[in-house]
Order: sequence, then C-alpha cells, then structure tokens
Amino acid sequence: MTIKQIFDDMCYGPAPESRAEAMAWIGKNAPFGHWINGTFTPPGAVFTTHNPADGQALAQVTQGNATDIDTAVRAARRAQPKWARLPGHTRAAYLYALARLVQKHSRLLAVTETLDSGKPIREARDIDVPLVARHFYYHAGLAQLLAAEQPAMEPLGVCGAVIPWNFPLLMLAWKVAPALAAGNTVVLKPAEYTPLTALLFAQISREAGLPPGVLNVVTGDGTTGAALVDHPDVNKIAFTGSTDVGRKIRMATAGTGKALTLELGGKSPYIVFDDADLDSAVEGLVDAIWFNGGQVCCAGSRLLVQEGVAERFHTKLRARMDGLRIGDPMDKCIDMGAIVAPQQLAQITAMVDASEGEKYQVPCPAGCYYPPTLITGLGSASTLMQEEIFGPVLVSMTFRTPAEAVELANNTRYGLAASIWTENVNLALDMAPKVKAGVIWINGSNMFDAAAGFGGLRESGFGREGGWEGLLAYLRRKEARKPLKSVAAMPEPLQADVTGLDRTAKLYIGGKQARPDGGYSQPIWSAKGKLLGHIGQGNRKDIRNAVEAAQAAKGWGKTSAHLRAQILFYIAENLSARAEEFARRLADMTGKSGAAEVEASIARLFTYAAWADKFDGAVKSVPIRGVALAMNEPCGVIGAICPDEAPLLGLISLMAPAIAMGNTCVLVPSQAYPLAATDLYQVLDTSDLPGGVVNIVTGAHADLTKPLASHLEVDAMWCFGAAALSGMVEREAAGNLKRTWVNHGFATDWAQAEGRAFLQAATEVKTVWVPYGE
Ligand code: NAI
Repeated sequence: MTIKQIFDDMCYGPAPESRAEAMAWIGKNAPFGHWINGTFTPPGAVFTTHNPADGQALAQVTQGNATDIDTAVRAARRAQPKWARLPGHTRAAYLYALARLVQKHSRLLAVTETLDSGKPIREARDIDVPLVARHFYYHAGLAQLLAAEQPAMEPLGVCGAVIPWNFPLLMLAWKVAPALAAGNTVVLKPAEYTPLTALLFAQISREAGLPPGVLNVVTGDGTTGAALVDHPDVNKIAFTGSTDVGRKIRMATAGTGKALTLELGGKSPYIVFDDADLDSAVEGLVDAIWFNGGQVCCAGSRLLVQEGVAERFHTKLRARMDGLRIGDPMDKCIDMGAIVAPQQLAQITAMVDASEGEKYQVPCPAGCYYPPTLITGLGSASTLMQEEIFGPVLVSMTFRTPAEAVELANNTRYGLAASIWTENVNLALDMAPKVKAGVIWINGSNMFDAAAGFGGLRESGFGREGGWEGLLAYLRRKEARKPLKSVAAMPEPLQADVTGLDRTAKLYIGGKQARPDGGYSQPIWSAKGKLLGHIGQGNRKDIRNAVEAAQAAKGWGKTSAHLRAQILFYIAENLSARAEEFARRLADMTGKSGAAEVEASIARLFTYAAWADKFDGAVKSVPIRGVALAMNEPCGVIGAICPDEAPLLGLISLMAPAIAMGNTCVLVPSQAYPLAATDLYQVLDTSDLPGGVVNIVTGAHADLTKPLASHLEVDAMWCFGAAALSGMVEREAAGNLKRTWVNHGFATDWAQAEGRAFLQAATEVKTVWVPYGE
C-alpha cells in the first residue's frame, strides 16, 4: 500500500499484539493439572480449551472430579485457621503483593485472557486487568482495617467460588480478594471455556508467597462446579453465572448452612430521554452493549428511548454501528472480538433468527463472530425483550413519559443494572430510586470499582461484590452457636378451665382483622390449664391475601424516615401504656414472668425508631470525577417466621427493623404462643401505622412457611423458627431467587439481637454512579 492510498483510505491497519509470551507459558505448563496446596497436580483426564478467534486448540486442562474437589477443599481447610489467625496487616501485605504482581504480569495476563476468551486485547489490557489489580489493592486495605472496623466478625471458613467465562480473571478477583481479606481460604472453579488465567494467577500467587492451600483452583465443567457446591466441608458458595444454574445452586445449598451469594443474569435497561446528549448516549451505548461482545451480565441490552428522539437516535446509532471494527481480538484496533465459543454463537444466532422485529446488522468476519445487531419494533413482552441473549444484540423500544420509562424498565424478572441518560439531573435522580436494579449509571455505563458494591435484585441474584458491603458476605458474627430448643404450646389439660368469654383472635391483614379463610381455629391454653382464647389457623389463601396487602402498602417505602421513626416511637408508647396487660398475657402463655420481655420490646422499638433516620448510605471514593452513592433501599415485602422462644420480643425484633427501613411485611408469629402477636393489632391500629405495612397470619409454621417463602411477590424471607424450616425456606425461595435469612437451627439471643445485621438484612444497597462535568 502506498502512502497516498493510506491517506485516501484512512482505514486502520492491523496492529496485532504478540502472543509469543503467552504461548510460551502455555507450552511450558500444559497439559495443566489443578492448582492445589500451592502447586500443580499431575494432569488427569483432560479437555481442550480453544482460542475462539481462530478455533485453534490452546491447551489441555484437567477435567476435575469430586475427588479433586475433595483434595482441594481439604487443602483449603487445613490452611484456613492459620490464615485467619494472621494479623490483618500480614494478610494485607499478601494482597498487596498479589496486586503488584498482577501489574507486573499484566501483559501476560491480558494476552492469555484474550487468547482464551476472544475479548479484545484492548479491553483485557485496559479494563479487566487494571480492575483486577485495583480489586486486590482495595482489599489489601480492607484486610488491614478489618479487625479495627469489624471487631465482632470472623471469617466463614472455606469458600467455594464458581465463575463464568465472560470476565475470567476479574470474576476471580471479585471472589478471591474479599475471601482472602476476610481470612477465608478458597477453592475456585473457573469456567470450562476460560480456565487459563485462573491457573496463571494461581501460579503467580506463589511469587507472592501465598501459603499453600489458601488459594486452590480446580478446573472442569458444570459437574466439577456441582461437586464443589455439594461438598459438605465448604462454608460458602459465591457464584456468578446464569440464572438457571444460580437457581440450581440455591436448591443444592438449601438447608446446609452454607452461605451463598449469587450474581446472575440481567436484561438491563438503557434509558435515553429526549433532552439527553444523544451523541454521548450513543457512545455510552457502544460500551453498554458491545463491550465484550455483549457477553456481560449487566450489558445495557434493552434500549428505551423517548419517542420524540427515537428516530434521530436510531439513525445516529446505526451510523455508529457501521463504524465498529470487528475482528481478531489480538488486534489493538478492533472494537469487538470473537464470541467465547461456537455453542454460545449458536445460541445467539438461534435467538435472533427466531425473533420478529426489524434487524439491523453490520458485516462481520466469518468464524466465531456475531455482528453487532439492533432490533427495533418489538413489544415489551417479546422474548428478546425479556430474555438475556448474552451477545452483541440490542433490542429497542420507545416510551413517552418518565413514568412509562420506569414501568418498561421494571418489566423484567431481572434487576441488575440500568443506565439513565438525561441532562436534567432532577429527572435522573428521581428515576434512580424507582428503577429496580442494584446498580444505576447516570449518563454512563459499565462503571465498576472495588469500592462500590455491584450486584442485583430479583432474578439477578443477591449479595454485593465490592466495598465493605461485599466483604460482609465473607464474614459472620463471632458467637458461640447453640442449637435452638424446640418450644411446644401448652397442652390441653385433662381438666380444662374454660371460664370467661371465649375470644377468637383473627388474622391482621391490610390493617383490618380478618377471619381465616379455612374457618378453623385452635385453642391456646395457659400454663395452668386455663383457656386463654383461640387463634385463627391461617392457610395458603390467607398468606396470599396478606402478601397482596403488603404489596399494596409499598408506598410506605417512600415515606420519610422521620415519619417512620415517629410511628415506631408511637407504637412503643402505646405498648408501654399496656405493658402490664402484655406481661400478664406472656406469663399466662409461657408460665414465666413476661415483664422483662415487654420492657425489652419497648426498648427495641425505640432502637429502630432511632435507626430509621440514621442507617445512612455512603458516598464511595471511586476513581471518577463524580460520586458513587450507596443508598440503603428497602427490600420490598419481607416475609418472616417469628421465633417461639420470645413470642413478643422476637416478633418486634423482626418487624421493627423491617418497617423502619421502609419495607412492608407479612409476619407469622410464634406458633406456640401466638396471642402476644394478636394483642398487638390494637397497638398497631392506634399508632398511625398505615394498613398493610404489617400483616400477621397466625397458624402452623409448617403449613405457612412454604406458601410465604415460595410467593413470587415476596422479596425477602426471614425464618427464626424450627431448624427444619430453614431448608424449606431456602429451597422455596429458589423460584424468584429472593434473599433469605434463616437461623439454620441455631438459637438467637433475643435480648441482644438488634442493630446493623438486622438493618442490613432489611435493605438492599443500590449503587448510583453520578459523574460530574459537562
Ligand atoms: P453457566 O451458569 O452454566 O456457567 C457458569 C459457571 O457455573 C461455569 O463455571 C460452569 O462450569 C458452572 N456450572 C454449570 N453448571 C453448574 C452446576 N450445576 N453447579 C455448579 N456450577 C455449575 O453459564 P454458561 O453455560 O457458561 O452460559 C450459559 C448462559 O448463562 C449464557 O448464555 C448467558 O446467558 C448466561 N451467563 C451469564 C453470566 C453472568 O455473568 N450473568 C455469565 C455467564 C453466562
């Protein structure tokens, strides 16, 4: 080509990155065994990992089996106590060393990542690897500060991490850095398409002097992941991947006592208002949907554009798409690389081919590539508007008003991220709390940082990664764990004292007393054999009615924290006025003095009245010109099975933080001593609490737990009942992947049970990124 031709053409020439070093590293170490106890094991039965850009075999990697997982878990278990006992400063020094080594080997890591995954080298080099280093630096800091800042917490033990192929090294960092900072050890199972950088990182960790067994990597497919999830000696599973597998893992871990965080799929809205800077919004969209070929859980894959500018915006977008460069990911000039594997390509192709709507695609190379695609003219219910495609495919719809934008944005089973584009900051900040997502980007997309929590709601999973909130998912309270003793109702006496008026307490739904649907009631006897009254036996229908009432009362979450505090104080005052009566009732039911429990209940209401306007969010120190707000939002509707051992205090200990944070709730009170709850109706009625904020359904825990835990309109489920209920709650919660908080059969000291743990369970952290500047 002559100079003149180049000037006439102005096209980019190829600028390939060298693969020599990475291939040399592979050549030296392949076929790979697992990384267990600080060294590679001899390779076993192997599979081949390919470079998707050219289909060539890269390396042979061992297919891990249950025995390999067991060997790795044992190594992690042996290493854990010593690792946890190290001073925070020493763990910080290891994490710092890892961060430095990631920087030192950044080119090798980036090239290996690109070869294995097909992502553009520009992204691996400039985004993934720097974020990995940043994550280890940040968590070195958390390890340093942990003992001083979280003195009541301790590590969980051995953490199993199962990660996907779209950000192989970054997802490793998101799991390994907080786990190690907190004093846990790790067994990591990378995705079968992209195992190489995890193995390289593990080898690099030896240069940092990381003690053997602290980090172990077992390669393999989904069966290897399942063996890790099922291993009885693992204390936590941290998973990123598809919603279907997330649901399987929720089921597999139910009732085992394993902690769980799930970061799953998404169908994130990208909302463009008519006053947005349209050119910037187009650039943002290139990043939102064509970054990593759209194989991103939080990809802005659902464009919602205001009607008046839709045509103009689509025209600009098509023109920009024409300029995207698709091709060899090792070329430093290309925008979009290969799709991770032919299977994924086939899935994207099939989904798009089956779809209606107008498709706009730009040319792309043959092979494992898919063209950037825009589909317009779809309805909000069409498959591609609802299902995650996980490829470079953008679907677009229009809206007229902000209210309609919110409605369309939330019309999905997911809730991971959202972008909002407008030059009107009032509108942006008004929209941010209304869109159901764990992360909101205002006039931007795909901003990530170790200091800012990332994670979803609804079927996008639960738990946050990054920030102190992310670290907490790798810690638990230091406390001696005692098994929960079962508490039975007072039996019917041989000679019953049934003097006095019979009173049948009803259910409390939508601020009104309601007869149980089944029409059955059950006698409650005093310790001395006196009939104290009857309670209604709620059933599935009553639970449904209560959830409907709680849903209808969700406006409570928008009231001011000051108002919620006032009402909690008022409930306390009204309970105090009837303290003697409540104490007598408790004494009658339990045979023990009830005065202390009533006093503690009043104090607890004060505690959460106090917290209502003090459980502040945060402004995170992220490396942008702007802020990332961490806002504590209510979860929504919380279902709770209340404890038997503290019939009034236990119920109040769950109700008060839930409503203080703006949730509405459905409470199933103590099965053995339910009258403490039914007496509370009048107190709630006279305290200005709006109907439906608290709903109470009495009855058998075994019957009511399942319909409540499985209800798709319940956003979080707490269970402090008998041990067997914990597993039931976790299993039933898999349907809509609601958050759960259960006791796993351990006793709670209700006299002490208050504070941040309850407030954290009652809130979701929403991270709102607000860049500054014109
Ligand atoms: P996947 O969810 O099957 O795989 C993620 C990880 O889980 C891999 O390491 C895999 O080996 C492991 N795994 C699979 N089955 C398992 C089981 N039963 N127990 C434990 N671990 C198991 O994702 P896959 O098949 O790679 O992709 C399928 C679809 O999932 C994609 O088309 C995409 O829609 C979605 N996906 C979403 C991701 C996200 O970050 N939200 C990441 C990757 C995929």
